Amino acid sequence: MKGVMGVELIKLIIDGKEVEAPAGSTVLQAAENAGINIPRLCYDPELSKLGACRLCVVEIEGNRLLPASCVTPVMQGMVVNTESPAVIEARRTILELTIANHPLDCMTCDKMGDCKLAEYAYRYGVKESPFEGEKHDYVIDDSNPFIIRDLNKCILCGACVRACEEMTGADNLSYLNRGFHRKATTAADVPYIDSDCVFCGQCVAVCPTGALTEKTMSGLARRWDIDRVRTTCPFCGTGCNFDLAVKDKKVIGVLSNPDSPVNGRSLCVKGRFGWDYIYNENRLTTPLIKKNGKFEHASWDEAYDLIALKFNEIKDKYGPDSFAALSSARCTNEENFLVQKFSRAVMGTNNVDHCART
Ligand code: FES
Repeated sequence: MKGVMGVELIKLIIDGKEVEAPAGSTVLQAAENAGINIPRLCYDPELSKLGACRLCVVEIEGNRLLPASCVTPVMQGMVVNTESPAVIEARRTILELTIANHPLDCMTCDKMGDCKLAEYAYRYGVKESPFEGEKHDYVIDDSNPFIIRDLNKCILCGACVRACEEMTGADNLSYLNRGFHRKATTAADVPYIDSDCVFCGQCVAVCPTGALTEKTMSGLARRWDIDRVRTTCPFCGTGCNFDLAVKDKKVIGVLSNPDSPVNGRSLCVKGRFGWDYIYNENRLTTPLIKKNGKFEHASWDEAYDLIALKFNEIKDKYGPDSFAALSSARCTNEENFLVQKFSRAVMGTNNVDHCART
């Protein structure tokens, strides 16, 4: 059977539910589209598939293994069980292995409330690991102003490595060593500040644990205390969207959002980490009006009254076309719309231009 755009549709059964999925999609994607949530640590819809963590295992009739659903393509007539006793047992064991060398300092971890590892440990009732052994004692990389890197909490999902290569194109991260000593790190394992990192923070955005966190937000709020306020980045004309992380009416950081239509979770260093100018004490907080050759603080009403007065004087004396408005690519579409609307409807001129026109 063919679906939209002629793509072949595959019929399968997931948890007793008849499901249709485009050929080439994975069992995890088919389940997700059917409203069935399969846990995942290394899978990220915006990154290439790695199949590393194995937490997404499912039972498939006729297959005596438990394949990872994020890398298993759908097949006609497949019968899948995503929460069978064998699957649950396997996921518990995987989580126990994953936390075997984890610091488990969740009570003071900044990622608490947004940590996938904690979320799934809770879902499957995993409190501790029966596997005893060595723990890592990596020095926390606190060398830069933006990102805290605590590899003791890294679960080697590889999301940061893939995001750096596939989303940013910086290719600053890779894997080092084998076995217990394997780590996702920079070339020559140098701190971020000494590496080729461009500090876009995509690695932080995709990290499912507290291994990579925003330094500016450290210790300031639990994730559930943060209000997310969607806004448009003011730094360039691309118009990326992101969420301001707001605690007690104060901006404490920026969190990217996959729903952002322009940029998804991708941001540059300015967009993600350059927000602190908001509270710079040198910022103007009131309009200034020049009186007797000196700028003096004024109220918004005073400023608007003066602007209206001067604009009207100029228009009356020299005509509407003596006025021109020059807008900016750094403004939002809505702001630019208002500038042209004001020029045409209020000032009566089509003299509107834009710094990015040429
Ligand atoms: Fe499928 Fe990690 S989510 S293997």
